[in-house]
Amino acid sequence: MEKREKFSSRLGFILISAGCAVGLGNVWRFPYITGKYGGAAFVLIYLIFLVILGLPIMIMEFSVGRASQKSAARSFHVLEPKGTKWHIESYFAMAGNYLLMMFYTTVGGWMIAYVFKNISGEFTGLSPEEVGGVFNGMLAQPVYMTVWMVITVLLSFFICSLGLQNGVERITKIMMGFLFVILIILCIRSVTLDGAIEGLKFYLVPDFGKIAEYGIFEVVFAAMGQSFFTLSLGIGAMAIFGSYLSKERTLTGESISICCLDTLVAIMAGLVIFPACFAFGVDPGEGPGLVFVTLPNIFNQMAGGRIFGTLFFVFMSFAALSSIIAVFENIISFSRDLFGWERKKAVLVNLIAIILLSMPCVLGFNVFSSFAPLGAGTTIQDLEDFIVSNNLLPLGSLVYLLFCTSRYGWGWKNFIKEADTGKGVKFPKWARFYVSYILPFIVLFIFVMGYVQKFSR
Ligand code: PHE
Repeated sequence: MEKREKFSSRLGFILISAGCAVGLGNVWRFPYITGKYGGAAFVLIYLIFLVILGLPIMIMEFSVGRASQKSAARSFHVLEPKGTKWHIESYFAMAGNYLLMMFYTTVGGWMIAYVFKNISGEFTGLSPEEVGGVFNGMLAQPVYMTVWMVITVLLSFFICSLGLQNGVERITKIMMGFLFVILIILCIRSVTLDGAIEGLKFYLVPDFGKIAEYGIFEVVFAAMGQSFFTLSLGIGAMAIFGSYLSKERTLTGESISICCLDTLVAIMAGLVIFPACFAFGVDPGEGPGLVFVTLPNIFNQMAGGRIFGTLFFVFMSFAALSSIIAVFENIISFSRDLFGWERKKAVLVNLIAIILLSMPCVLGFNVFSSFAPLGAGTTIQDLEDFIVSNNLLPLGSLVYLLFCTSRYGWGWKNFIKEADTGKGVKFPKWARFYVSYILPFIVLFIFVMGYVQKFSR
């Protein structure tokens, strides 16, 4: 057995974990869900969930990873008490990583395609309808979308094939650096637009009436789902980076840094998008098309819009790629942990698998568009997203939670010992009661209520 790879630096670990967390969830999902549920009030609920729910579970995932020194494919086998069945979760975790990539690679491809559309000036001079037409035109072309999806997959696997330190760590660090620089430039541009203030109000001043309109449970369910999604929790995607980590620092401290970075990016992405929407009089509640239709329209009307548009989609592409690379690293390590394969072989096999598995999502927008799995107008992508985001992530998080707190699992003592090993913030002792007896019920309750709401309409 080869020795397990390690990160070269603490910054590497933090930026890769943040890179995994910072993704389409922050820059695509968060803005459109916030727009849909009416802005600031939703943001507030979301922030609360990040702290009371996301953070503790992230610490647990890292602990399981670091203690087991394995990916989610084997970590439960290593840590569970003899004769117990916790390792069943490993199949769901693996399925979750694959399923996530089955639709994520397609959206990643759209982002890169849009970089080139902006550079080439394809949007210049188009009317709003025509800009919408470009997006719908893209969805109607299976070959075009397949090409960009394959480029995304090849690029990301290529980086993973270079190794943990030389590939994943080095490239992600660079991308995250650029991501922050571009984000700051875009933020300044957006909040200084004439009329930006209305957007800031929508985004930052809560209007609880909006929440009543949708029903409190639906909004809370959406906020909870978003907090799992944005922090990449519940399918072991973060745990893997714990397994590459040394014992120098406590996991609570590191998790706080990662959560803060993730939240910072999401909040700033909103600061780019909402002021711009209001400044140019477009509806932020547009839904998933927000960044592909609404924003190109805005850039069209803006001085220097082609440059800002290009920068924006480079930023989006980096966010998407850093998450894809992180999840590919998971997928690669599953095969290595399970079959003892070398990195190169794991890359090759999974590359083919992921391309094939991504096809249903691509074809769901055109060839199979009559198939609407979740009701009129929905696509295969919606189905995959629903399975992962609304089921595997919350339920998987629940398993990590119980595993770390229950004496029938890995147990509190082992968890705390691992989490608190090293220098830095320790896991607060008073929180034991909360995470053991209250948090699981919060997750379960909201999960069930979300279903009831979704399917009772
Ligand atoms: N956190 C990522 C994002 O915000 C998505 C993700 C979810 C990645 C679960 C890995 C695991 O886009």
